[in-house]
Amino acid sequence: MTQHNPAQQSTSWDSRAAAYDKENATTSDVIARQALSIMGVTPGQKILDVAAGPGSFSILAAQAGADVLAVDFSQGMADYLRDKTRRLGVKNLRVEVMDGQDLKLEDDTFDIAFSALGIMLFPDRAAGMREFCRVLKTGGLGAIVAFTGLEGHGIQSLVMSALKRAKPDFEPAGQDPRYSLTNPDVFRAEMLTAGFSSVNMFTVRVVRSFESPETLWPRFAETSPAMATVFNDLTDSQRQAFGDAFVEQVRSKQGDGPYGAENELRIAVGVK
Ligand SMILES: C[S@@+](CC[C@H](N)C(=O)[O-])C[C@H]1O[C@@H](n2cnc3c(N)ncnc32)[C@H](O)[C@@H]1O
Repeated sequence: MTQHNPAQQSTSWDSRAAAYDKENATTSDVIARQALSIMGVTPGQKILDVAAGPGSFSILAAQAGADVLAVDFSQGMADYLRDKTRRLGVKNLRVEVMDGQDLKLEDDTFDIAFSALGIMLFPDRAAGMREFCRVLKTGGLGAIVAFTGLEGHGIQSLVMSALKRAKPDFEPAGQDPRYSLTNPDVFRAEMLTAGFSSVNMFTVRVVRSFESPETLWPRFAETSPAMATVFNDLTDSQRQAFGDAFVEQVRSKQGDGPYGAENELRIAVGVK
C-alpha cells in the first residue's frame, strides 16, 4: 500500500480549515491577486480552482464575475468554503468535494484553471497535472503555484534549521530538488508533459506579519498537517528545544519586532 504523508490525507485538513485560513489568508490573497492579474479574468468565464482550501482565489474570481467551481478533497475545507461564500454573499461560486488526481469533470470545460499549494502535495502529481490540463479548453490558461525552495522560503528555512537544532538527524520529506516543483525546470517539464503547449514562470514574494515568535511556533501544528506529524515525532524536550531555537533565530534576525514571515512562491502559467 502507498504510504501517504499527512498532507495527502483529506482528514488531516478537515479540522484545519479555519486555522489555515486565518494564518495564511494574506499569502493566499497575494498569490490569488497576482494570478488573476497575470491571467486576466472576464465576467462569465468558467474557472476551476483545484485544492481550493479556504478559496481565496475562487472568491476573488467569482467577485470579478466569473463562474467558478472550487474543488477540494477535504469535506471540512469544502464545508468551510461554502460557509464563507454564504457569509460574504459571493455569487457564481460552487464548491465540490473532489480529488484533484481524478476530476469528475468533462474534458475541455474551463477557460482558466488554478491550483495553489495543492498539486505539489499530490502523491500522483503527474495525474493531478494531467487532469488539470484535460478539463481546460484548448487555448485556456492554467496556473499552478508552488514554493520556490527553502532558500527563498524564509520562514520555512528558520523552521528547518530549528528542527535540525532540536533533532540533528531530522530530514525534511519531499525536498529533493531533482524531483520537486521547487525546481523550475522540473515544474515546466511536468506541465508540458501534462499537455500544456507553453509555460512561463513568475516569482512572488509575500511577507505576512505575526505578533511574536513565541506565539507563532505553537500554532504550526494547527495549520499544517506536516508540522503536526513532525511535532508528534518529537519528544517534549525536543519540541521545546525547537521552539527555543526558532524564537532565538527570529529574534536574532528581527529583534523585538515588528515581525514578518517571508515566503517565496512560483506561479507557473501554461497555455493548453
Ligand atoms: C496548503 S492548502 C492550499 C489551499 C489553497 N489553495 C490556498 O492556496 O490557500 C492545500 C489544500 O489542498 C487540498 N488537497 C490536498 N490533496 C488534495 C487532493 N488530492 N485533491 C484535492 N485537494 C487536495 C487540501 O485539502 C488543502 O485544502
